[in-house]
Amino acid sequence: MGPWQLFGLRLKVLPPVVLVVACALALSIHVLGAGQATQSTSPGGSQSSAPIYFPPEGAVVRAGKIIIIGRDSDMPVWISNKPTIWQYRHLGLAALEVALTPGKYVIGVGDFRREINVVDAPPTSASGVASSANPAENAPVEPVQWHPMSPTSESCEACHRGTNKAGGWPSVSTPDACFPCHTSVQLEAIHAHPMEHLHHCQDCHHMHAAPKEHLLIKPPKELCRACHES
Ligand code: HEC
Ligand code: HEC
Ligand code: HEC
Ligand code: HEC
Repeated sequence: MGPWQLFGLRLKVLPPVVLVVACALALSIHVLGAGQATQSTSPGGSQSSAPIYFPPEGAVVRAGKIIIIGRDSDMPVWISNKPTIWQYRHLGLAALEVALTPGKYVIGVGDFRREINVVDAPPTSASGVASSANPAENAPVEPVQWHPMSPTSESCEACHRGTNKAGGWPSVSTPDACFPCHTSVQLEAIHAHPMEHLHHCQDCHHMHAAPKEHLLIKPPKELCRACHES
């Protein structure tokens, strides 16, 4: 516990931390820049120009119940030419849940159109092996996944609590927003990692359109490289 040991730890940990800070800065500058043109009460930064936030454009999702999240407006939502109504509307945000069978769908609001592709089974590891053995074939796109949720105030506001400073849709403060349901002890066991270094859950997990299993944004190895070598 001597200062040299602390120094050793710092030396080991500082450069990646600097890297992370630099990345975070670059990212926030990027997000701010993208947001400036369309600054409004609606969230989503660069997405705020589109009235549908999730699923993202071109998303592949599994058949079954699908959560659609968008900007609240008095216009109906069209799902492949069938009008649908928002089930949850709050602070300029709106959400609905629909059950969709496999196929291509167009989600429309006013003149806006978003295409998503609903698929049947998840790509199995067997098909993954087959496609890597056959590089001529395109690897299957992994369906996006999301955290369990429903279009209700109880569910959405479990994570998005209160309002932002302007009285609009609040961003999520982690880890506090997660702790009522996931305990620190449980999380430490799952991650096999001291939890205080993983408090910014969004660095690794996406709650609304995660491309990897366990709601991860990238393969685990790439996520660890932000702070650990090898
Ligand atoms: C399990 C926690 C959780 C639940 C439940 C949840 N969200 Fe989120 N949501 C997040 C996190 C984390 C983000 C990432 C951005 C942030 O920190 O606000 C996010 C981002 C968003 C964004 C994009 C905001 C932006 O600024 O980019 C919207 C819109 C949104 N959520 C709406 C909803 C709606 C509507 C519901 C209910 C159907 C909901 N969320 C349920 C955790 C959650
Ligand atoms: C209202 C309770 C609740 C809140 C709040 C909550 N979760 Fe969850 N979470 C659950 C439940 C229920 C499950 C599904 C059962 C399980 O895996 O424990 C789950 C599962 C998960 C999973 C695994 C999902 C998968 O598909 O593998 C992740 C990752 C996760 N939560 C992260 C978070 C994060 C990050 C937050 C905070 C932003 C959060 N949760 C907030 C209840 C909650
Ligand atoms: C450094 C990246 C990273 C951070 C930060 C992180 N996680 Fe994870 N998380 C992972 C990885 C990787 C897994 C998969 C672990 C495994 O099963 O091997 C995981 C798994 C989980 C699971 C279980 C998923 C499942 O399918 O059962 C939950 C729940 C979870 N994380 C919640 C959280 C919460 C809440 C936070 C923030 C307090 C958080 N994580 C921060 C990387 C991270
Ligand atoms: C935000 C930075 C950060 C990320 C991302 C991160 N770690 Fe760590 N990790 C740390 C710090 C800081 C320590 C503590 C270092 C020490 O005490 O020497 C640590 C310690 C560890 C330890 C030692 C655990 C112990 O109980 O002493 C392991 C193993 C580890 N990390 C694995 C991982 C893995 C696997 C991932 C990817 C899922 C990951 N880390 C992602 C910062 C991070």
